Amino acid sequence: MQPLSHPHMNRFCIPFFGLALVLLVLASPTSSCMEQEKSSLLQFLHRLSRDSGLAASWRRGTDCCRWEGITCSPNRTVTDVSLAYRGLEGSISPFLGNLTSLLRLNLSGNLLSGGLPPELVQSSSITVLDVSFNRLTGGLNELPSSTPARPLQILNISSNLFTGRFPSTTWEVMKSLVVLNASTNSFTGQIPTMPCVSAPSFVVLELSFNQFSGNIPQGLGNCSVLKLLAAGYNNLSGTLPEDLFNVTSLEHLSLPSNWLEGPLSGISKLTNLVILDLGRNELSGNIPESIGDLQRLEELHLDHNNISGELPSSLINCTNLIIIDLKNNNFSGELTKLNFSSLANLKKLDLLNNRFTGTIPESIYSCSRLTALRLSHNKFHGQLSERIGNLKSLSFLSLVNISLTNITGTLQILGKSRSITTLLIGINFMHETMPEDDSIDGFDNLQVLSMNDCSLSGKIPHWLSNLTNLGLLVLCNNQLNGPIPVWISSLKVLFYLDVSNNSLIGEIPTVLMEMPMWKSDKTAPKVFFELPIYAFDPSLQYLMLSAYPKLLNLGINNLTGLIPEKIGQLKALTSLNLGSNKLAGEIPGPICTLTDLQLLDLSNNHLTGTIPAALNNLHFLSNFSISNNDLEGPIPTMGQLSTFPGSSFEGNPKLCGPMIVNHCGSTEAGPVSIVSTKDIGIEVIFAIAFGAFFVVGVLYDQIVLTKHFG
Ligand SMILES: *[C@@H]1O[C@H](CO)[C@@H](O)[C@H](O)[C@H]1NC(C)=O
Ligand SMILES: *[C@@H]1O[C@H](CO)[C@@H](O)[C@H](O)[C@H]1NC(C)=O
Ligand SMILES: *[C@@H]1O[C@H](CO)[C@@H](O)[C@H](O)[C@H]1NC(C)=O
Ligand SMILES: *[C@@H]1O[C@H](CO)[C@@H](O)[C@H](O)[C@H]1NC(C)=O
Ligand SMILES: *[C@@H]1O[C@H](CO)[C@@H](O)[C@H](O)[C@H]1NC(C)=O
Ligand SMILES: *[C@@H]1O[C@H](CO)[C@@H](O)[C@H](O)[C@H]1NC(C)=O
Ligand SMILES: *[C@@H]1O[C@H](CO)[C@@H](O)[C@H](O)[C@H]1NC(C)=O
Ligand SMILES: *[C@@H]1O[C@H](CO)[C@@H](O)[C@H](O)[C@H]1NC(C)=O
Ligand SMILES: *[C@@H]1O[C@H](CO)[C@@H](O)[C@H](O)[C@H]1NC(C)=O
Ligand SMILES: *[C@@H]1O[C@H](CO)[C@@H](O)[C@H](O)[C@H]1NC(C)=O
Ligand SMILES: *[C@@H]1O[C@H](CO)[C@@H](O)[C@H](O)[C@H]1NC(C)=O
Ligand SMILES: *[C@@H]1O[C@H](CO)[C@@H](O)[C@H](O)[C@H]1NC(C)=O
Repeated sequence: MQPLSHPHMNRFCIPFFGLALVLLVLASPTSSCMEQEKSSLLQFLHRLSRDSGLAASWRRGTDCCRWEGITCSPNRTVTDVSLAYRGLEGSISPFLGNLTSLLRLNLSGNLLSGGLPPELVQSSSITVLDVSFNRLTGGLNELPSSTPARPLQILNISSNLFTGRFPSTTWEVMKSLVVLNASTNSFTGQIPTMPCVSAPSFVVLELSFNQFSGNIPQGLGNCSVLKLLAAGYNNLSGTLPEDLFNVTSLEHLSLPSNWLEGPLSGISKLTNLVILDLGRNELSGNIPESIGDLQRLEELHLDHNNISGELPSSLINCTNLIIIDLKNNNFSGELTKLNFSSLANLKKLDLLNNRFTGTIPESIYSCSRLTALRLSHNKFHGQLSERIGNLKSLSFLSLVNISLTNITGTLQILGKSRSITTLLIGINFMHETMPEDDSIDGFDNLQVLSMNDCSLSGKIPHWLSNLTNLGLLVLCNNQLNGPIPVWISSLKVLFYLDVSNNSLIGEIPTVLMEMPMWKSDKTAPKVFFELPIYAFDPSLQYLMLSAYPKLLNLGINNLTGLIPEKIGQLKALTSLNLGSNKLAGEIPGPICTLTDLQLLDLSNNHLTGTIPAALNNLHFLSNFSISNNDLEGPIPTMGQLSTFPGSSFEGNPKLCGPMIVNHCGSTEAGPVSIVSTKDIGIEVIFAIAFGAFFVVGVLYDQIVLTKHFG
């Protein structure tokens, strides 16, 4: 056969050689692939609109067993077609179903579209079919239960655009099925009752990220070797079916983000569970005392449910636990009753937003592998223990709103940690004084520090100047006084600064106009937080520091003087709030060059002069207010500014424009005395707008997350 695959073979000779090949094949049937198989493959090739060079290898007249991506059996029949990640476009030809010895077909990771030919799913030879990560559409056909048993073992159709109801009888004839992954499509209807009686070998059923609805049907009870059941991010409702708890082979049960309700009572029968994820449902009742039977459990996710009561003391018998996520439930009771010291493998403990009482249990500080600890929004009290210093791997610590006292002691203790990168301790230490002396030291690796809403008095403390890795600093809603310190410029990577709603005085320091992160497009490192940080509303979350906007918020203080001309240098800012101060002078022209701004608030100051027309260059601006100043002249009637409502402008008696009471050209236009009711809501409006901004970040990060860690 060598001469036929000669590299110098002329294309025009192909028909001739093709004929010769047929003759040769007839003469020696076992030395080359069958003509019929070859033509099936070429049919497949012809259906591709983009073959990424495959045609150079797949030439008529050559041995198809030597074609790229093709493997044959010793008797020269095609057994494997492996063309994953080849950049193939077009549709999948049903002719592939004519390859009667084909065992494995892998077309994953291409740009294939159209439907999945039923000939392939119901093939009497294919055992492994992987068409995941394509753009396939349409539905899956129902096969009558009278169809003879099919050999398919692995079916991966995940990450496509399939729609419609999921077949049910089809699975009855798939008696050998081991793995079915249909995740990340748009299937609707009930999830199938997997007849494990007919497919006793069923091990993996993955249906996450679809639009399945209704109850989880009875019938899984006979799946005696099922290890993984995942149907998260669907629209499932009702209770967990009783017979599910009979599937003791289950190691991974994942049903997050559905509408499941009822108690968890049967769960501890699943003694082989390693991962249990029932987060973001409507489950209620208690965690049963028998949870301690789940000796292999490594991850327990019950977040965002309605589960209540105390944590059962038997939980400490689950010594393999690595992650405990119980945030946003109704748990109560003294956490100190639980002795955490046996949970030596614990890395993440998240109890955010429950009703736990008492002090923070000292035994937590025995969990020396902890990387993330979040106890925020509970009813704890007391002071932080020095023993937290034992947690040498702790990177994420969130202790917001747990009635902590003694901010000086707290900061002295935490400063010693070299591992902490994210520290959230707002809504504590009410009316204490911010320690200013240099007795606070350390925090070598801190990137995020939030001490908001503590009514702290004192000044912005000097020890902050040593936190050279700080990217985000939030000190809003305190009673800090004094000026914005000039040493702020030593925070070279700071890009999110919120000191709003304090009593800061003096001018806006010019050093702020030199902050490198606001002047350049440089972003924070794209490193995931150990736990997502929630903002405003629990559906919005930040997964990494770089998802935060570049923000400067000096609003609601007593700052005086002019807005520096050099503000035009901060080209990378997306949010600038100088509202509710005592700033005077004109709106500086260079502010109009901050073209990334989405929020600009200069309201409630003493600004004078006219509105620079070039503000219209701020095309991304979605929140804008210059209300309650002394501005004059006409509001531009065209461009970005004209899209904002009157509330963005009102309270400037000498301004005129179509959206406010004062219309231009009418000499009679009196002073604007009516303050719009919308004015009260301006904080709210900004909060909402910020929300919208955050969502973008969240979506982006979730995409990243799904791609890399899904
Ligand atoms: C070739 O071998 C396969 C198994 O490897 C078998 O299923 C098929 O029937 C054989 N075909 C021919 C033509 O002998
Ligand atoms: C298909 O090929 C891709 C890329 O090589 C691989 O990751 C995947 O595991 C293969 N699918 C099966 C079912 O083996
Ligand atoms: C090959 O498959 C196609 C489509 O399934 C079918 O129409 C055709 O009859 C088959 N050809 C042979 C030779 O089996
Ligand atoms: C599709 O699923 C199978 C079975 O789980 C797996 O072996 C294969 O790697 C998956 N394909 C891709 C591209 O991940
Ligand atoms: C199913 O496929 C998706 C990708 O589409 C993948 O993320 C997931 O891990 C797979 N599930 C299993 C159990 O292999
Ligand atoms: C389990 O299989 C048995 C037969 O082996 C059958 O009688 C029973 O109804 C099945 N149970 C479920 C829940 O499907
Ligand atoms: C989700 O299910 C409920 C009933 O359980 C139904 O009313 C609703 O339309 C479904 N939503 C979607 C998006 O399918
Ligand atoms: C669970 O299994 C037990 C014993 O194997 C059986 O008695 C019971 O009926 C099963 N429950 C369900 C709901 O299938
Ligand atoms: C932990 O398990 C042991 C043995 O199984 C049992 O004796 C003990 O009571 C359990 N501890 C708790 C707190 O449930
Ligand atoms: C605050 O904490 C520090 C360090 O733990 C301690 O030395 C000091 O006594 C505490 N102050 C008060 C008032 O409790
Ligand atoms: C800043 O760090 C240096 C050494 O890195 C140290 O000498 C100095 O005391 C620290 N200053 C403050 C205010 O903590
Ligand atoms: C600003 O200073 C005035 C007194 O000059 C005071 O009444 C007001 O509360 C201060 N505002 C803020 C936000 O600190």
